[in-house]
Amino acid sequence: MLVLGVETSCDDTAAAVLLDGRAVLANLVSSQDAVHGPYGGVVPELASRQHVQHILPLLDGALHKAGVGPKDLDGIAVTRGPGLVGSLLVGLCVVKGISYRWEIPYVGVNHLEAHVLAIFLEQAVGFPYLALLVSGGHTLLYQVHGFGRYQYLGGTRDDAAGEAYDKVAKMMSLGYPGGKVIDQLARQGDPRAIAFPRARIKRGSYDFSFSGLKTAVWRYLKDRKDGWESERADIAASFQEAVVDMLVTPTLRAAREVGGHRIVLAGGVAANSRLRERMKAEAEARKLEVHFPAPPLCTDNGAMVALAGHYWLTQGRRDDYRLNADADLTL
Ligand code: KG4
Ligand code: ZN
Repeated sequence: MLVLGVETSCDDTAAAVLLDGRAVLANLVSSQDAVHGPYGGVVPELASRQHVQHILPLLDGALHKAGVGPKDLDGIAVTRGPGLVGSLLVGLCVVKGISYRWEIPYVGVNHLEAHVLAIFLEQAVGFPYLALLVSGGHTLLYQVHGFGRYQYLGGTRDDAAGEAYDKVAKMMSLGYPGGKVIDQLARQGDPRAIAFPRARIKRGSYDFSFSGLKTAVWRYLKDRKDGWESERADIAASFQEAVVDMLVTPTLRAAREVGGHRIVLAGGVAANSRLRERMKAEAEARKLEVHFPAPPLCTDNGAMVALAGHYWLTQGRRDDYRLNADADLTL
């Protein structure tokens, strides 16, 4: 089965062609970082306009790169939520149009499901597994019992982990998006230099919280009357260590209490080098398996959408043209 996957939920326009749920024949992303960079965060109206400009050439490019034409496709998958409603509508409307014109069935896909399944693009993982989904919009923990069978365990009570990275990067004038820059800067710093607070979530809950940490960094910067420029790397490393602690601890506790011996990371923050290093070391010390997709499959991409769509299409699902975008879709 040949599936075209289309992703426009936030600020990346992405399209991919996937053969039989395994072979990625093309996986193209048109990033809007340069457009949103000056604002230090995604401007929804600009994001929608950028998607409108880029989506058709990107679809052409993905088909060309894969060496296939519209007639070769068996189905199209498109993200229908959650995300920015204007951005979602661009992808969904374009896919409805080409599905009708090319007479190819389409399915609307849950963006969170696509992230959680992305690992299967690279390796087979047994069920059940704990999926830690950490991105700019989400910090969620699920027990994945099988395709289409997700048990919610916990989520962030305030900011998402990636949002905390982006906001701290903005405070430190490091540019947008902040995750990758802080990840790199932190390599030159001491993660124990500054004791930033870790949120305490009561026992029995697998929730996360990052707003206290964000405020602590803001206060630290404000209190440095003589400037903090010379401490940039230590601040980045200490902030990152606190984020990683607050992600690793509940995940390992869930593995112990909920059961299962597999952990899968997903979402843009799963590209973080320190999170990958710490999760691997600490999980393996407890005889747990850890799997993470290559960084381009952690951040938003069309291949993961095609993969989730492939699963639903093989289940016989077909969506009709009344399907709407759902900005608050849950899993
Ligand atoms: O999954 P994604 O591409 O989009 C959303 O669905 O949100 O994630 C984007 C987020 C941004 O907040 C970005 O700063 C963060 O992932 N990110 C990182 C790294 N690369 C991207 N955060 C920490 N370390 C990284 N290396
Ligand atoms: Zn995402």
